[in-house]
Amino acid sequence: MSSARPGGRPSTSPPAFAELWRDLEPLGRDARSGGYRRFSWTEADARCRSWFTERATERGLATHADGNGNLWAWWGKPGPGAIATGSHLDSVPDGGAYDGALGVVSALAAVDLLQQKSFYPERPVVLGAFTEEEGARFGVACLGSRLLTGGIAPETARALAGDGGVTLAEAMTAAGFDPAAIGPRDDLLAGLAAFVELHIEQGRALAPLGSCVGVAEGIWPHGRWRLRFGGRADHAGTAELAGRRDPMLPFAHAVLAARQAAAARGGRATIGKVTAEPGGANAVPAQVTAWLDARAGDEAALAGTVSIVRSVSEKTAAEHGVTLDMRQESYSPPVRFDAELRDRIIGVLAAAGMAAPVLPTAAGHDAGVLAARLPAAMLFVRNPSGISHSAAEHADLADCEAGVRALAAVLEDLAGPAR
Ligand code: GLV
Ligand code: MN
Ligand code: MN
Repeated sequence: MSSARPGGRPSTSPPAFAELWRDLEPLGRDARSGGYRRFSWTEADARCRSWFTERATERGLATHADGNGNLWAWWGKPGPGAIATGSHLDSVPDGGAYDGALGVVSALAAVDLLQQKSFYPERPVVLGAFTEEEGARFGVACLGSRLLTGGIAPETARALAGDGGVTLAEAMTAAGFDPAAIGPRDDLLAGLAAFVELHIEQGRALAPLGSCVGVAEGIWPHGRWRLRFGGRADHAGTAELAGRRDPMLPFAHAVLAARQAAAARGGRATIGKVTAEPGGANAVPAQVTAWLDARAGDEAALAGTVSIVRSVSEKTAAEHGVTLDMRQESYSPPVRFDAELRDRIIGVLAAAGMAAPVLPTAAGHDAGVLAARLPAAMLFVRNPSGISHSAAEHADLADCEAGVRALAAVLEDLAGPAR
């Protein structure tokens, strides 16, 4: 017979992580690619939101949205000194199952573990599921946490338009949320004492070290820039090469310049999204729009990379009679996570028998945005291939369960009796 715990689930509940994972796994998965298309404010996003709210409610947590669409689920009475954990449920186009979702599922499973051992937090624990972390629909990474912390003006955010021209305000309205309510929530942030985000490792540092869990040191500065090359449409057969104003040519120079400039600085540069309009196979395009994602170990190297892409694009655009409009869509400065919190977490994990190496990362996270306002930390769960932002992303179940145990130990320490 199962016994109900106050505000909790029956004690005979099946292994929490696997059950939660199975439940969430089909939502927003594309049958053809096997990847996820959980874009904010879409039907898939709504299903993920309902899933989170229902799973939190059945654990006795009190849920609410914060006006920016970020979801919060409180274990214990909302109040000062809360320990926050969680991640995001949205994905890149055809993204993997783990990026973001692992942190949200693990947070719920960690609550299960703690409830099963009759732990009750002295300081409230709050689970967060952030909106549009990937910026896949509206172009600004970590949009939900940026709005929460005042990192983007509400009126700027409301006007952001995705492919097809639908604005954030329109998409939120269509999903039943009020876009007038978006904006900073200093009141909510003031109540948080720490944020710990668990995330799949993006890269392959843990496997050779033989560790299933790592701890973040910091995040490289990174950003996105949109390059729009404007030319003149013409016939692919009859338009002489010399007289063309073909935007594809300076774009091609920009791609190569980005690669070379990043390589020279030990950084990264990627153009993963490009559109040619109107898109006729037998026509010179009128316009090419491309998105540069650039990252580097420091801001000078990043600025150097972007400046070279800009100057090569300007020069080659002029040579081909093409216009260029290059603008920054989002920027994330370098992050160094709170050393005291990180060392405390390493100590807690060591006491639980887990050696957790400290790793830098070039991936962006809501924890990086929140780190500007409160002590924040990250736990990484081993990714055997290192692949991420791909349907091939994977973590072994045993490692995910170790991640849950690690997170539960950290929450127990941070939200338990003061030491
Ligand atoms: C988010 O995953 C990013 O690093 O772009
Ligand atoms: Mn991601
Ligand atoms: Mn992520």
